[in-house]
Amino acid sequence: MTPPSDLPVWHLAGAGNMGTLAAFYLRAAGFPVVVRRPSPARKTLTFEDRRAPRTLDLPAAPAGPIRHLVVACKTPYSAAALAELPLAPDVTVLRLQNGLGSLDGLLPAGADLIEVVTTSAVKGRHPTHHLVAENQTWMGRARGGPAPAWFDTLAAHWPGLEWAAPIRERQWRKLVANAVINPLTGLYDVPNGRLLEDPDLRARADRLADEADTLLGALDPAWSGGSRQQVAAVARATAGNTSSMRADMQRGAVTEIDAINGWLLRQADRLGLDLPAHREIVAAVLEHSPAP
Ligand SMILES: NC(=O)c1ccc[n+]([C@@H]2O[C@H](COP(=O)([O-])OP(=O)(O)OC[C@H]3O[C@@H](n4cnc5c(N)ncnc54)[C@H](OP(=O)(O)O)[C@@H]3O)[C@@H](O)[C@H]2O)c1
Repeated sequence: MTPPSDLPVWHLAGAGNMGTLAAFYLRAAGFPVVVRRPSPARKTLTFEDRRAPRTLDLPAAPAGPIRHLVVACKTPYSAAALAELPLAPDVTVLRLQNGLGSLDGLLPAGADLIEVVTTSAVKGRHPTHHLVAENQTWMGRARGGPAPAWFDTLAAHWPGLEWAAPIRERQWRKLVANAVINPLTGLYDVPNGRLLEDPDLRARADRLADEADTLLGALDPAWSGGSRQQVAAVARATAGNTSSMRADMQRGAVTEIDAINGWLLRQADRLGLDLPAHREIVAAVLEHSPAP
């Protein structure tokens, strides 16, 4: 059967853990997925349950404008990943990254930026990626708006995928959890649950959560706060896990702190607010990890 001519061809920038998972679901939904790096790519996705490992062959991207793009590189590499890409003026972008604002200034004015928040987890290294947890995923625009035409087809093949209109509250909740748990577990080299057990760490976590609530409440008076409790719930649910920032710091890699706590600090600057706990923890992480 000839595919319909308006079938989106998804270009993948960042064919790592999350990018491979997204490619797997997009392909299951019948969408072609192409890559520029590595190009072409053969990936293996393995599963925690009884599903057999899947091999994914991702062909090299053809020349010509990109109309559908998945960005799934780590945030410090966003500019490099997008630098040479021939983006169409109305490109649709799925931003599958933690933190906020990592694509600011990098997309054409007419781009449709769709943010992705996920509680799924994938680990591994090219070419083998392991789906550790297949949970909830939300897609949506920060200011809301209806799902694009391709969304229902994708949602039928992406377990736990929902459209969120708007997605901002979910992004902010995830951001706060990352802004508290990631730098503390990275600096102290501990699993997430330690934040609940160690009184000093708990006190630092509470200060970070409270400052985040102050800022987000200033940005949006409708922000309901409660970040201390929410962060504690995430730390409890992921007690044995190693956060991505701890993993990055353990292997001497650049961290995503600039898109996480750095985003909070930039917003605070705009509003003339000081967030000393975030300021201090950003400086401490940067001292212990390579500069972006
Ligand atoms: N993994 C998870 O469970 C998870 C969960 C939620 C959110 N996230 C978020 O998802 C994003 C991606 O994380 P990840 O775990 O998938 O990272 P990852 O496994 O390290 O994958 C990132 C990929 O980006 C590629 N890349 C780096 N620079 C590039 C460039 N200039 N052009 C094209 N590709 C480039 C890397 O290639 P090389 O290896 O060749 O450098 C790598 O394949 C992060 O923002 C992370 O916070 C991840």
